[in-house]
Amino acid sequence: MEIAGARIWVTGASTGIGAALARELADRGARVAISARSADQLAEVAGDRMAVVPVDVTDRAATVAAGQAVRDALGGLDVAVLNAGTWSQFHVEPWDSSLFADHLQVNLMGAVHTMEAVVPRMLAEGRGRVVGMASVAGYRGLPGSEAYGAGKAALLNLLEALRGSLGPRGVVVQTLSPGFVRTRMTDRNRFPMPFMVEPEAAARTIADGIARDKAEIVFPVPMMLVMKAARLVPTRAWTALTATMARRGLHGGPSRRADPR
Ligand SMILES: NC(=O)c1ccc[n+]([C@@H]2O[C@H](COP(=O)([O-])OP(=O)(O)OC[C@H]3O[C@@H](n4cnc5c(N)ncnc54)[C@H](OP(=O)(O)O)[C@@H]3O)[C@@H](O)[C@H]2O)c1
Repeated sequence: MEIAGARIWVTGASTGIGAALARELADRGARVAISARSADQLAEVAGDRMAVVPVDVTDRAATVAAGQAVRDALGGLDVAVLNAGTWSQFHVEPWDSSLFADHLQVNLMGAVHTMEAVVPRMLAEGRGRVVGMASVAGYRGLPGSEAYGAGKAALLNLLEALRGSLGPRGVVVQTLSPGFVRTRMTDRNRFPMPFMVEPEAAARTIADGIARDKAEIVFPVPMMLVMKAARLVPTRAWTALTATMARRGLHGGPSRRADPR
């Protein structure tokens, strides 16, 4: 697709990958609207070249209304990038169902609400594009990533299913699965994060992938190779590997809540 001139909505664009992507798309000539909860940070990212529509994507009605506000601001909508997300390490002791629910509310239901805000009109128009932010963390179960990974795995499945159901009706669905990107989300992590990339590099890769109509945009390449290979590892071997990682604190760390952050 042609990015120059396209009307694009990016959620979760007050910081990190979303902010960098909004800037990259605007630099390439797109007309961009950005959303997140913090209006001040959105205004900083937008400058005078993007529309700002603050919204909390866990609020279904507000997100549907935000979709209409974005259409009004841009004079229509060609692409929605469902990027809003959250991450915290999950600890099995004490078990915290509310942390789990919070993750699903933002990472899964936030995307579903944003789809509700854009998909019906796209279907009516017979054209449009939904770009969903999943993660390679959704590829396999990782200790410490129970709440985050479960939501991202669900999103991977949802986007894949929608690619089949919406594609024949003219709506393209693309899946983003980054490895580690240096943002405030990863700044807090205490475990090794191999192949880390900067948000500006991530934004360029994502914009290129959108332009090339790639069904899946997985990066960086070494992380893609590792995690695609991980999907093929037999369950018994994966369990042994992740148990060792957990014992050594290489990902989820000790099973008790230890990190004061
Ligand atoms: N960084 C990585 O290594 C990595 C890897 C794979 C996938 N991802 C995914 O990439 C996306 C962006 O993450 P990031 O790394 O750029 O982290 P980030 O800097 O923390 O950005 C998260 C964005 O989501 C917004 N957000 C959070 N909760 C929201 C809510 N309830 N309603 C609306 N907006 C909300 C935040 O803005 P407000 O706080 O202002 O609402 C912020 O703009 C996430 O979906 C994340 O899961 C990140």
